Amino acid sequence: MRPTILAIESSCDETSASVISNGKVLINIVASQSVHQKYGGVVPELASRAHQQKIVSVVEDALTQSNVRLEDLDAVAFTRGPGLMGALLVGVSFAKGLAMARNIPLIEVNHMQAHILAHFIDEQKPSFPFLCLTVSGGHTQLVIVRNYLDMEIIGETQDDAVGEAFDKAAKIMGLPYPGGPLIDRYAASGNPRRFSFPGADMPGLHFSFSGIKTAFLYFIRDEKQKDPAFVEKNLNDICASLQSKLVSMLMNRLQQASRQTGITEIAIAGGVSANSQLRHALKETGVKLGWKTFIPAFEHCTDNAAMIAMAAHYKYLAGVFVDQTVAPVPNLAL
Ligand code: KG4
Ligand code: ZN
Repeated sequence: MRPTILAIESSCDETSASVISNGKVLINIVASQSVHQKYGGVVPELASRAHQQKIVSVVEDALTQSNVRLEDLDAVAFTRGPGLMGALLVGVSFAKGLAMARNIPLIEVNHMQAHILAHFIDEQKPSFPFLCLTVSGGHTQLVIVRNYLDMEIIGETQDDAVGEAFDKAAKIMGLPYPGGPLIDRYAASGNPRRFSFPGADMPGLHFSFSGIKTAFLYFIRDEKQKDPAFVEKNLNDICASLQSKLVSMLMNRLQQASRQTGITEIAIAGGVSANSQLRHALKETGVKLGWKTFIPAFEHCTDNAAMIAMAAHYKYLAGVFVDQTVAPVPNLAL
């Protein structure tokens, strides 16, 4: 079954390898790096070291568990960016070495494009053109997806990403990294109307999350001055109120983008698309406005190589390859 491609993802803090054959993902191995937890964020130097330590065993596991031999591979794919330079270098160098040794083509993949193409792993696939809200730790983008490799950003954050807002708010409350999933969990039993936070009014379809982050910092500081145990006593309500504001900021823009473009097939992608309130809000709004909505499986929301493999499959079919001079690009544009 062709093409059979090994894909590697190493842009941030997950070392991941996947094998795809004839468009079907056979395996997706993800090794998360727990070393960053105590620092409240990803430490780039530690991330690249951990990738270096894990990459060989992650690739070996992917090949063994998919029953694919090195000789069966038609190409090797890797994340070229966006991401952390030292982290990307591990995956790019590994892929180059393997491509050279096996004399097979190399495929570079844009990490943000791959988050969107994760929708083609599952059975229910969107049709073109569709709108995708890509929300991760480093990006918040509204994208018109015209084809597998033809995408246009129509709105994006002008400062922090929404995932960053989740993670920084969690850090302010003394929660470990990554804080997004924890806020999601505490919010489930909290009152979203208890506290209110200011949104930002950006032009067009753009976003801004730095204002809410600063407002949150001062809010917690002031409340803790009155009662040092404020966060512990009100954790669920604080998380529910903050999350509800962030989700409504995202959903408002998504509705505006759909009205402006007339597109009613709507998808979400990226780490924050694992958020239960965002998933629920998309479904609910979809029913109300007659949208066809697409929500990725949990394992394809946060960073993984299956999405890199899916993107690589379409690039292979389109004959888009790179040579051995390719280098990582930390701020690679969509
Ligand atoms: O896509 P991703 O794995 O990595 C990047 O490309 O950045 O996204 C990671 C981000 C982190 O900010 C993390 O806190 C957030 O996704 N995240 C969540 C949830 N799960 C992951 N944010 C809110 N709710 C979640 N359930
Ligand atoms: Zn990502």
